[in-house]
Amino acid sequence: MNNRPIGVFDSGMGGLSVWKELRKALPHESLVYLADGKNCPYGNKPTEEVVEYVLRAIEELMRHNVKLVVMACNTATAVAIENLRSRYAEIPFVGMEPAVKPAALTSESGTIGILATRSSLHGDLFRNTCAKYDDKVRILTSVGEGFVECVEEGNDSSEEIALPLVRKAVEPLLAEGADKIVLGCTHYPFLAKHIERVIGGRKVEVINPAPAVARRTEWLLDHHDIRASKGHKAEYRFVTFADDGYLARITDKAMQLAEEE
Ligand code: DGL
Repeated sequence: MNNRPIGVFDSGMGGLSVWKELRKALPHESLVYLADGKNCPYGNKPTEEVVEYVLRAIEELMRHNVKLVVMACNTATAVAIENLRSRYAEIPFVGMEPAVKPAALTSESGTIGILATRSSLHGDLFRNTCAKYDDKVRILTSVGEGFVECVEEGNDSSEEIALPLVRKAVEPLLAEGADKIVLGCTHYPFLAKHIERVIGGRKVEVINPAPAVARRTEWLLDHHDIRASKGHKAEYRFVTFADDGYLARITDKAMQLAEEE
């Protein structure tokens, strides 16, 4: 048993899509959510620069005495997870990568589409995962240009702003016959409504890996015997490198997600 918090990290607000699933699956676990906010978006910055941001962020989470870290950011996972696992060998890390496997194993059309940031799609992690499945399915990729900014600026509900961005990224995947669309960036689930709208009546499944990440976290807590005790009252904290206004926006967004449950 261990009542220390779990650290959850993202470049910004996107990781709240994972935070929501963690909270639901693990109601006794305290969570410290760190949104960099200051250097977001990460997805189109040089790798070395993003590695620096991620290392700094994880150091900050360690100051909160976390017992496990969920990297609720595909981009940060792609550039830094190996480094972090060797640097903090005593802390389990849950990384995120585009859910190629479940899409490849269930595709009927034989074509799947992966939506992610440029960095995630160009990293070794993604390349290696693709190599395991690209003899079974055709794997198409598309960068969600402007998706992260849209969510960060609070425009994810605005059809006028979000829909044209989503159309541009998703329509080419549909035109090529993809029957699975993998959300390979934690900001993208906030645009799911628009993605479904572009899909329309087609038989296409959108895959959000967040619930699977929560299950993996649960498994690791048991494996290391570090679950919070049953009676433990979970606390939810939010931290950022950006300003107080940003902190208020993340907190509001999180509370909204909690109410939707
Ligand atoms: N939410 C992140 C991801 O999962 C990072 C997006 C960004 O900062 O570009 O990739």
